[in-house]
Amino acid sequence: MSTPLRLGIAGLGTVGTGVIKIIQTHAALLTGRTGRPVTVSAVSARTRDKDRGIDLSGYDWEDDPVALATRDDVDVFVELMGGSDGPAKAAVEAAIAAGKDVVTANKAMLAIHGQALAEAAEAAGCVIRFEAAVTGGIPVVKALTEGLAGNQTLRVMGVMNGTCNYILTRMESTGLPYETVFDEADRLGYLEADPTLDVGGIDAAHKLSLLAAIAFGTRVAFDKIELEGIERISIDDIRHAADMGFRIKLLGVAQMTGRGLEQRMSPCLVPADSPLGRLENAMNMVVLEGDSAGQIVLQGAGAGEGPTASAVMSDVLDIARGFRVSTFGRPASGLERPVPAKATAAAPYYLRMELDDKPGALAKVATVLGESGISIDRMRQYRHSDTTAPVLIVTHRTTRDALDHALAGFAATGVVPGSPVAIRIESV
Ligand code: NAP
Ligand code: HSE
Repeated sequence: MSTPLRLGIAGLGTVGTGVIKIIQTHAALLTGRTGRPVTVSAVSARTRDKDRGIDLSGYDWEDDPVALATRDDVDVFVELMGGSDGPAKAAVEAAIAAGKDVVTANKAMLAIHGQALAEAAEAAGCVIRFEAAVTGGIPVVKALTEGLAGNQTLRVMGVMNGTCNYILTRMESTGLPYETVFDEADRLGYLEADPTLDVGGIDAAHKLSLLAAIAFGTRVAFDKIELEGIERISIDDIRHAADMGFRIKLLGVAQMTGRGLEQRMSPCLVPADSPLGRLENAMNMVVLEGDSAGQIVLQGAGAGEGPTASAVMSDVLDIARGFRVSTFGRPASGLERPVPAKATAAAPYYLRMELDDKPGALAKVATVLGESGISIDRMRQYRHSDTTAPVLIVTHRTTRDALDHALAGFAATGVVPGSPVAIRIESV
């Protein structure tokens, strides 16, 4: 019998229990694929006597994840607790110091401490693998690190938070307002313990920052992402965007330009009939563009027990097979500190504003756009109240600077009450 690969699993929640189910139900399959059994030596969670619907009787229990991470009978420490700091980071550091390989689903920890942990792992001769941290069951880390390793990556983009995609698509299909659908997502258990991580775009930005590091050979720069969540998206925006042939998505885009690394996570309009536009419910989609391979589109479940555990197991099996790759696809010491660049590339924009219903009001708006160098592609005015009328404008390609100039100009016209909504239209 060949030597088993022995795991210590810290965290027995959604993902941890899913991993144990795969190990227990697919033992023969896993051994067949790697040539060695994958076993669990010990587990850890906060509460020992919780019924988790799985049989843990064959495993030792450790109250302290650090003690688990450093056990002699653990070859790979599997961190599935979550949290950027605290016990997750302490246990991963302890595992590396003890010479253990690490598999984690923890994007928050890697987005903040990824560089330091990758350097520590390499110095200790260990690997850190994190397929499950980015879009759950979609093997995008592997695709970038391995499948596209011979390409210069041109752009990485996608919908990387299922909760936001659920809220946006459900608002459109039901016509319900943001607050109602947010409560529904909460009841379905979709929201993170801190929902701001989802709807504020932070969770998706964590994922984008990890993909950008692999794609562009740069240190993880989560704090340099231009970030905007979906909290300000109204049912009116969703309806009107649909009228104009678009869908609103929380879209992440990372690309290396002559000025530096652009990374943004923000609501964007995409054509309704594009692959991203057709993405429904809590699904994720990542689009990778390589100079040789062209565009690759990956779609699947970005979260949940089965999909995320599947990604954890792919990392575990790589280690069992003896496949070892640097955390971000090249030695951590070779990752360059990126020069952050603001996204200045021109794009069409969608504008929605309330306009005073009086003679010359629309002409004033058109004048401001003209003076800002912005050309109108399409425009619609909707049924109005006694005093104001909602107006939608799709512009031709323009820069963010020109748009900001126009937004300031609208405020000075005296006919645009409130703040107009401006959303970039992304080409896919
Ligand atoms: P979860 O259901 O909340 O489970 C967390 C587990 O960690 C629980 O078993 C908890 O113990 C344990 N834990 C928390 N603090 C601990 C501590 N101080 N010491 C020991 N154990 C501790 O979380 P999850 O959804 O499985 O997520 C786990 C990780 O996967 C996170 O990094 C998350 O971001 C990532 N992830 C999750 C998904 C998903 O779909 N859920 C998708 C992609 C990535 P108790 O059970 O005793 O409370
Ligand atoms: N909260 C995340 C999402 C799942 O909604 O996509 C974990 O990454």
